[in-house]
Amino acid sequence: MASEEDKYFEVALGLVKSAGRMVRDAFDRPFSEVQTKASNTDLVTETDQNVEILLTRGLSDAFPDHQFIGEESAAAGKKIEFTDAPTWIIDPIDGTTNFVHRIPMICICVGLAVKKELRMGIVYNPITNELYTARTGQGAFKNGFRIYVSKTEEVRHALVGHQIGSQRHQELINSYTSSFIAMMVTNEARGIRSFGSAAINMVCVAQGSLDAYVEYGLHCWDVAAAAVILKEAGGVVIDPTGGEFNMMSRKVLCASTKELATQLSGMLTHANYEPEG
Ligand code: IPD
Repeated sequence: MASEEDKYFEVALGLVKSAGRMVRDAFDRPFSEVQTKASNTDLVTETDQNVEILLTRGLSDAFPDHQFIGEESAAAGKKIEFTDAPTWIIDPIDGTTNFVHRIPMICICVGLAVKKELRMGIVYNPITNELYTARTGQGAFKNGFRIYVSKTEEVRHALVGHQIGSQRHQELINSYTSSFIAMMVTNEARGIRSFGSAAINMVCVAQGSLDAYVEYGLHCWDVAAAAVILKEAGGVVIDPTGGEFNMMSRKVLCASTKELATQLSGMLTHANYEPEG
Protein backbone atom coordinates (compact mmCIF):
# COMPACT_ATOMS: atom_id res chain seq x y z
CA MET A 1 0.00 0.00 0.00
CA ALA A 2 1.26 3.46 -0.92
CA SER A 3 2.37 5.56 2.05
CA GLU A 4 1.64 9.27 2.48
CA GLU A 5 5.23 10.02 1.48
CA ASP A 6 4.89 7.91 -1.69
CA LYS A 7 2.01 10.19 -2.63
CA TYR A 8 4.00 13.35 -1.82
CA PHE A 9 6.84 12.09 -4.00
CA GLU A 10 4.62 11.14 -6.99
CA VAL A 11 2.78 14.49 -6.97
CA ALA A 12 6.03 16.48 -6.64
CA LEU A 13 7.68 14.49 -9.43
CA GLY A 14 4.75 15.12 -11.82
CA LEU A 15 4.87 18.84 -11.08
CA VAL A 16 8.65 19.01 -11.50
CA LYS A 17 8.31 17.41 -14.94
CA SER A 18 5.65 19.98 -15.96
CA ALA A 19 7.88 22.75 -14.62
CA GLY A 20 10.72 21.25 -16.67
CA ARG A 21 8.70 21.70 -19.87
CA MET A 22 8.14 25.34 -18.95
CA VAL A 23 11.87 25.92 -18.34
CA ARG A 24 12.85 24.06 -21.51
CA ASP A 25 10.45 26.17 -23.66
CA ALA A 26 11.80 29.38 -22.16
CA PHE A 27 15.41 28.23 -22.61
CA ASP A 28 14.79 27.63 -26.32
CA ARG A 29 13.52 31.18 -26.80
CA PRO A 30 16.24 33.72 -27.53
CA PHE A 31 15.56 36.25 -24.78
CA SER A 32 14.52 36.46 -21.12
CA GLU A 33 13.47 39.58 -19.30
CA VAL A 34 16.01 39.85 -16.47
CA GLN A 35 15.53 41.67 -13.19
CA THR A 36 17.80 41.95 -10.18
CA LYS A 37 16.93 41.19 -6.53
CA ALA A 38 19.22 41.70 -3.52
CA SER A 39 22.08 42.99 -5.70
CA ASN A 40 23.17 43.60 -9.27
CA THR A 41 24.48 40.03 -9.44
CA ASP A 42 21.36 38.35 -8.01
CA LEU A 43 19.14 37.66 -11.05
CA VAL A 44 15.53 36.61 -11.55
CA THR A 45 13.40 36.04 -14.66
CA GLU A 46 9.67 35.62 -15.25
CA THR A 47 10.33 31.89 -15.74
CA ASP A 48 11.75 31.55 -12.19
CA GLN A 49 8.58 33.19 -10.86
CA ASN A 50 6.16 31.18 -13.04
CA VAL A 51 7.84 27.88 -12.18
CA GLU A 52 7.63 28.60 -8.46
CA ILE A 53 3.91 29.44 -8.82
CA LEU A 54 3.27 26.21 -10.77
CA LEU A 55 5.02 24.11 -8.09
CA THR A 56 3.55 25.78 -5.02
CA ARG A 57 0.00 25.88 -6.44
CA GLY A 58 0.14 22.25 -7.51
CA LEU A 59 1.53 21.08 -4.17
CA SER A 60 -0.81 23.17 -2.04
CA ASP A 61 -3.86 22.01 -4.04
CA ALA A 62 -2.80 18.41 -3.35
CA PHE A 63 -1.66 18.99 0.26
CA PRO A 64 -3.45 22.04 1.68
CA ASP A 65 -1.84 21.80 5.14
CA HIS A 66 1.76 21.76 3.83
CA GLN A 67 4.08 24.75 4.14
CA PHE A 68 6.46 26.30 1.60
CA ILE A 69 9.83 28.01 1.50
CA GLY A 70 10.57 29.23 -2.01
CA GLU A 71 13.28 31.42 -3.45
CA GLU A 72 11.02 33.78 -5.32
CA SER A 73 8.34 34.00 -2.61
CA ALA A 74 11.11 34.91 -0.14
CA ALA A 75 12.42 37.52 -2.61
CA ALA A 76 8.87 38.94 -2.79
CA GLY A 77 8.89 39.39 1.01
CA LYS A 78 7.41 36.12 2.38
CA LYS A 79 9.00 35.36 5.75
CA ILE A 80 11.03 32.13 5.90
CA GLU A 81 9.27 30.01 8.53
CA PHE A 82 10.56 26.51 9.18
CA THR A 83 8.22 24.54 11.42
CA ASP A 84 7.47 20.87 12.13
CA ALA A 85 4.80 20.86 9.39
CA PRO A 86 5.65 19.13 6.10
CA THR A 87 7.55 21.90 4.31
CA TRP A 88 8.48 22.02 0.63
CA ILE A 89 11.71 23.87 -0.07
CA ILE A 90 11.76 25.09 -3.67
CA ASP A 91 14.27 26.65 -6.00
CA PRO A 92 12.42 27.08 -9.32
CA ILE A 93 15.66 27.54 -11.28
CA ASP A 94 18.94 26.95 -9.52
CA GLY A 95 21.53 28.54 -11.77
CA THR A 96 19.49 31.55 -12.90
CA THR A 97 22.64 33.28 -14.20
CA ASN A 98 23.34 30.23 -16.37
CA PHE A 99 19.72 30.30 -17.55
CA VAL A 100 19.99 33.97 -18.50
CA HIS A 101 23.23 33.27 -20.39
CA ARG A 102 21.80 30.09 -21.97
CA ILE A 103 24.34 27.81 -20.33
CA PRO A 104 22.53 24.48 -19.90
CA MET A 105 23.59 23.88 -16.28
CA ILE A 106 20.36 24.69 -14.53
CA CYS A 107 17.92 22.69 -12.44
CA ILE A 108 14.61 22.72 -10.64
CA CYS A 109 15.00 21.78 -6.97
CA VAL A 110 12.24 20.48 -4.72
CA GLY A 111 13.01 19.18 -1.23
CA LEU A 112 10.61 18.10 1.51
CA ALA A 113 11.23 18.32 5.26
CA VAL A 114 8.92 16.71 7.81
CA LYS A 115 9.37 17.62 11.49
CA LYS A 116 12.41 19.62 10.31
CA GLU A 117 14.10 16.49 8.87
CA LEU A 118 14.82 16.41 5.13
CA ARG A 119 12.97 13.41 3.68
CA MET A 120 13.14 13.69 -0.11
CA GLY A 121 14.85 15.60 -2.85
CA ILE A 122 14.24 16.07 -6.57
CA VAL A 123 16.78 17.90 -8.75
CA TYR A 124 15.90 18.07 -12.45
CA ASN A 125 17.85 19.56 -15.32
CA PRO A 126 15.25 19.78 -18.10
CA ILE A 127 17.81 20.83 -20.70
CA THR A 128 20.03 17.76 -20.36
CA ASN A 129 17.11 15.65 -19.12
CA GLU A 130 18.95 14.52 -15.98
CA LEU A 131 16.60 13.70 -13.14
CA TYR A 132 18.07 13.07 -9.68
CA THR A 133 15.83 11.76 -6.92
CA ALA A 134 16.22 10.46 -3.39
CA ARG A 135 14.14 9.61 -0.38
CA THR A 136 15.64 9.06 3.04
CA GLY A 137 16.69 5.44 3.48
CA GLN A 138 15.92 4.48 -0.13
CA GLY A 139 19.06 5.42 -2.07
CA ALA A 140 19.79 8.06 -4.69
CA PHE A 141 18.98 7.74 -8.39
CA LYS A 142 19.72 9.45 -11.70
CA ASN A 143 17.12 8.77 -14.37
CA GLY A 144 16.14 5.67 -12.39
CA PHE A 145 19.67 4.21 -11.91
CA ARG A 146 21.42 4.12 -8.51
CA ILE A 147 24.26 6.62 -8.09
CA TYR A 148 27.14 6.62 -5.60
CA VAL A 149 29.85 9.05 -4.51
CA SER A 150 33.53 8.41 -5.29
CA LYS A 151 35.85 6.83 -2.71
CA THR A 152 38.31 9.76 -2.69
CA GLU A 153 39.80 10.46 0.75
CA GLU A 154 42.53 12.99 0.02
CA VAL A 155 42.42 16.51 -1.36
CA ARG A 156 45.38 15.80 -3.64
CA HIS A 157 43.24 13.29 -5.52
CA ALA A 158 40.08 15.38 -5.46
CA LEU A 159 38.22 17.41 -8.06
CA VAL A 160 36.52 20.08 -5.96
CA GLY A 161 33.53 22.32 -6.67
CA HIS A 162 34.24 25.77 -5.23
CA GLN A 163 32.05 28.68 -6.05
CA ILE A 164 31.22 32.26 -5.35
CA GLY A 165 27.56 33.19 -5.60
CA SER A 166 25.89 36.55 -5.99
CA GLN A 167 27.45 38.03 -2.83
CA ARG A 168 30.72 39.90 -3.13
CA HIS A 169 31.64 41.22 0.33
CA GLN A 170 35.26 41.37 1.38
CA GLU A 171 35.22 38.60 4.02
CA LEU A 172 33.70 36.19 1.49
CA ILE A 173 36.21 37.07 -1.22
CA ASN A 174 39.12 36.67 1.26
CA SER A 175 37.81 33.31 2.40
CA TYR A 176 37.34 32.19 -1.21
CA THR A 177 40.82 33.18 -2.35
CA SER A 178 42.73 31.80 0.63
CA SER A 179 40.76 28.54 0.53
CA PHE A 180 41.47 28.34 -3.21
CA ILE A 181 45.21 28.70 -2.56
CA ALA A 182 45.12 26.12 0.25
CA MET A 183 43.36 23.59 -1.97
CA MET A 184 45.08 24.24 -5.28
CA VAL A 185 48.60 25.31 -4.33
CA THR A 186 49.39 23.99 -0.86
CA ASN A 187 47.54 20.69 -1.20
CA GLU A 188 47.58 20.29 -4.99
CA ALA A 189 43.95 19.30 -5.50
CA ARG A 190 43.35 17.73 -8.90
CA GLY A 191 41.29 20.75 -9.96
CA ILE A 192 38.50 23.21 -9.15
CA ARG A 193 35.13 23.45 -10.93
CA SER A 194 32.28 25.99 -10.66
CA PHE A 195 29.13 24.92 -12.47
CA GLY A 196 26.98 27.94 -11.56
CA SER A 197 24.34 25.95 -9.69
CA ALA A 198 24.79 24.78 -6.12
CA ALA A 199 22.49 21.80 -6.67
CA ILE A 200 24.32 20.71 -9.82
CA ASN A 201 27.63 20.90 -7.94
CA MET A 202 26.07 18.73 -5.21
CA VAL A 203 24.58 16.09 -7.51
CA CYS A 204 27.95 15.94 -9.27
CA VAL A 205 29.44 14.90 -5.92
CA ALA A 206 26.56 12.44 -5.51
CA GLN A 207 27.31 10.73 -8.82
CA GLY A 208 31.11 10.74 -8.31
CA SER A 209 31.97 13.37 -10.97
CA LEU A 210 33.19 15.77 -8.29
CA ASP A 211 34.73 14.57 -5.02
CA ALA A 212 33.74 17.59 -2.94
CA TYR A 213 32.03 20.97 -3.06
CA VAL A 214 32.13 23.98 -0.77
CA GLU A 215 30.26 27.28 -0.84
CA TYR A 216 29.36 30.12 1.52
CA GLY A 217 26.45 32.56 1.18
CA LEU A 218 23.87 30.28 -0.34
CA HIS A 219 20.29 29.63 0.78
CA CYS A 220 18.26 26.66 1.99
CA TRP A 221 16.47 26.30 -1.38
CA ASP A 222 19.86 25.91 -3.14
CA VAL A 223 20.87 22.91 -1.00
CA ALA A 224 17.84 21.16 0.57
CA ALA A 225 16.86 18.78 -2.24
CA ALA A 226 20.43 17.99 -3.31
CA ALA A 227 21.50 17.31 0.32
CA VAL A 228 19.10 14.34 0.47
CA ILE A 229 20.45 13.02 -2.85
CA LEU A 230 24.05 13.38 -1.74
CA LYS A 231 23.51 11.63 1.61
CA GLU A 232 21.59 8.81 -0.05
CA ALA A 233 24.45 8.39 -2.54
CA GLY A 234 26.74 7.74 0.44
CA GLY A 235 28.21 11.25 0.68
CA VAL A 236 28.90 13.55 3.60
CA VAL A 237 27.16 16.92 4.03
CA ILE A 238 28.46 19.09 6.86
CA ASP A 239 28.99 22.67 7.90
CA PRO A 240 32.34 23.79 6.41
CA THR A 241 33.64 24.36 9.96
CA GLY A 242 33.17 20.64 10.64
CA GLY A 243 29.86 20.83 12.55
CA GLU A 244 26.51 19.40 11.64
CA PHE A 245 24.85 20.49 8.38
CA ASN A 246 22.12 23.06 8.86
CA MET A 247 20.40 24.07 5.63
CA MET A 248 19.61 27.49 7.17
CA SER A 249 23.26 28.26 7.93
CA ARG A 250 24.02 29.64 4.43
CA LYS A 251 27.06 27.41 3.89
CA VAL A 252 27.79 23.84 2.96
CA LEU A 253 30.64 21.38 2.58
CA CYS A 254 29.94 18.17 0.66
CA ALA A 255 32.39 15.34 0.19
CA SER A 256 32.54 11.77 -0.98
CA THR A 257 34.07 10.54 2.30
CA LYS A 258 34.40 11.62 5.93
CA GLU A 259 38.19 11.70 5.56
CA LEU A 260 38.02 14.15 2.65
CA ALA A 261 35.44 16.33 4.42
CA THR A 262 37.64 16.54 7.54
CA GLN A 263 40.77 17.34 5.55
CA LEU A 264 39.02 20.06 3.55
CA SER A 265 37.33 21.58 6.58
CA GLY A 266 40.73 21.97 8.24
CA MET A 267 42.26 23.88 5.33
CA LEU A 268 39.40 26.27 4.52
CA THR A 269 39.21 29.88 5.64
CA HIS A 270 35.66 30.11 6.94
CA ALA A 271 33.32 33.05 6.28
CA ASN A 272 30.69 33.89 8.90
CA TYR A 273 26.98 34.10 8.16
CA GLU A 274 23.87 34.74 10.24
CA PRO A 275 21.52 31.75 9.73
CA GLU A 276 18.32 32.55 7.81
CA GLY A 277 14.75 32.08 9.01
C1 IPD B 1 22.58 30.39 -6.97
C2 IPD B 1 23.35 29.28 -7.63
C3 IPD B 1 24.82 29.59 -7.63
C4 IPD B 1 25.34 29.78 -6.24
C5 IPD B 1 24.55 30.84 -5.52
C6 IPD B 1 23.07 30.52 -5.55
P1 IPD B 1 20.11 30.75 -7.91
O1 IPD B 1 21.21 30.07 -6.93
O2 IPD B 1 23.14 28.06 -6.95
O3 IPD B 1 25.52 28.52 -8.18
O4 IPD B 1 26.69 30.16 -6.32
O5 IPD B 1 25.01 30.85 -4.19
O6 IPD B 1 22.36 31.53 -4.92
O7 IPD B 1 20.02 32.18 -7.51
O8 IPD B 1 20.58 30.57 -9.30
O9 IPD B 1 18.87 29.98 -7.58
